[in-house]
Amino acid sequence: MGSSRSDILCFLVLCASFLVPISCHSCSHGALFIFGDSLYDAGNNIYLNTNIPKLNIFPYGETYFKHPTGRASDGRLIPDFISEFAKLPLIPLYLQPGNHQFTDGVNFASGGAGALVETNQGLIMDLKTQLSNFKNMEKQLRQKLGASEVKTLLSTAVYMFSIGTNDYLVPFTSNSTVLQSYSKKEYVKMVIGNITTVIQEIYKIGGRKFGLSKLLPLGCPPISRALEIVRTGGSGCMEEVTVLAKLHNRALPKALKELKSQLKGYTYSIFDAYTAGTAIFNNPSKYGFEEVKMACCGSGPLRASITCGQKVYQLCDNVSEYFFFDGIHPTEKANYQFAKLMWDGSPKIVKPYNLKTLFEK
Ligand SMILES: *[C@@H]1O[C@H](CO)[C@@H](O)[C@H](O)[C@H]1NC(C)=O
Ligand SMILES: *[C@@H]1O[C@H](CO)[C@@H](O)[C@H](O)[C@H]1NC(C)=O
Ligand SMILES: *[C@@H]1O[C@H](CO)[C@@H](O)[C@H](O)[C@H]1NC(C)=O
Repeated sequence: MGSSRSDILCFLVLCASFLVPISCHSCSHGALFIFGDSLYDAGNNIYLNTNIPKLNIFPYGETYFKHPTGRASDGRLIPDFISEFAKLPLIPLYLQPGNHQFTDGVNFASGGAGALVETNQGLIMDLKTQLSNFKNMEKQLRQKLGASEVKTLLSTAVYMFSIGTNDYLVPFTSNSTVLQSYSKKEYVKMVIGNITTVIQEIYKIGGRKFGLSKLLPLGCPPISRALEIVRTGGSGCMEEVTVLAKLHNRALPKALKELKSQLKGYTYSIFDAYTAGTAIFNNPSKYGFEEVKMACCGSGPLRASITCGQKVYQLCDNVSEYFFFDGIHPTEKANYQFAKLMWDGSPKIVKPYNLKTLFEK
């Protein structure tokens, strides 16, 4: 007979699991709250009643979900992989209709969003709006779970942001003159200032662990390369916007470090997407890519126009060869590589902690 120590152990473990309070059995398990733009928006925008192009059209979603979800990729986004690594389910959308289970986290991100309210104003949920939605969610949670459970939930959670890309790119793609009204340094300072304000506000409500990313060399996605062709007839990256990304990437770690002296118990992670992206763009085959300049799906030069899934567009034969699915958004394969580095990459690429350590802290 197999009545052994392992049976007894199983029994004890079962008993123990019944003793855990059931009101919020997972309040300290490390939830994931997601903020930012289309790199992290898993479908909120499809519920917006604005003229922002909706990406719930095929072939978006073709690789993994087999149907469009509103994600700007052929498959999963970085936060989808992070939730998987953290043993969480897919994180629900803030705007998803129906009953919410918020205790594993919520996705507040909105494609097209920037840190500045002026970026795609009236079309998307900017970072400030995402913050007020977070505050609203916190109130609802407190009514359900009580203040002390919610405090535990929020202080053990990780807050991930993808923000800034649109603040720097949209002025070029929309032909706006905002960049002529400020010096580059002033403009970057406003963007960073608005990001740190949101972190401080989340901290006030109970958030402690923040995961951010530097920006890609923004002149190198197909949409920027195509713009460079139109503007100068050149065939490389559009340096003018990469310069802004570089300034941003220098200012962000300073700002995040500075918060340490103001906010007790605050901790953070910065992923260096600039270095990771540059390594891939310079040596695609080393990372399993064959095409990093042209988009898989879209129209026009480099298939850079974001017309994927609309009336007229081209789709590549093998999405696994591509870094960019459309003119600006990475493929699932690229997202996976970045997510893996963010999760357990070395301090060379993600610091002072990677997300795995941030979850465990
Ligand atoms: C951008 O603005 C400039 C100056 O206002 C104008 O000459 C040009 O035609 C505009 N380009 C586009 C694509 O709208
Ligand atoms: C936030 O951005 C606005 C422009 O949208 C700017 O006027 C303001 O100064 C910024 N805030 C900070 C703290 O930098
Ligand atoms: C698609 O591309 C990937 C990566 O280059 C390669 O491993 C795979 O064999 C290709 N599939 C087909 C059907 O060609």
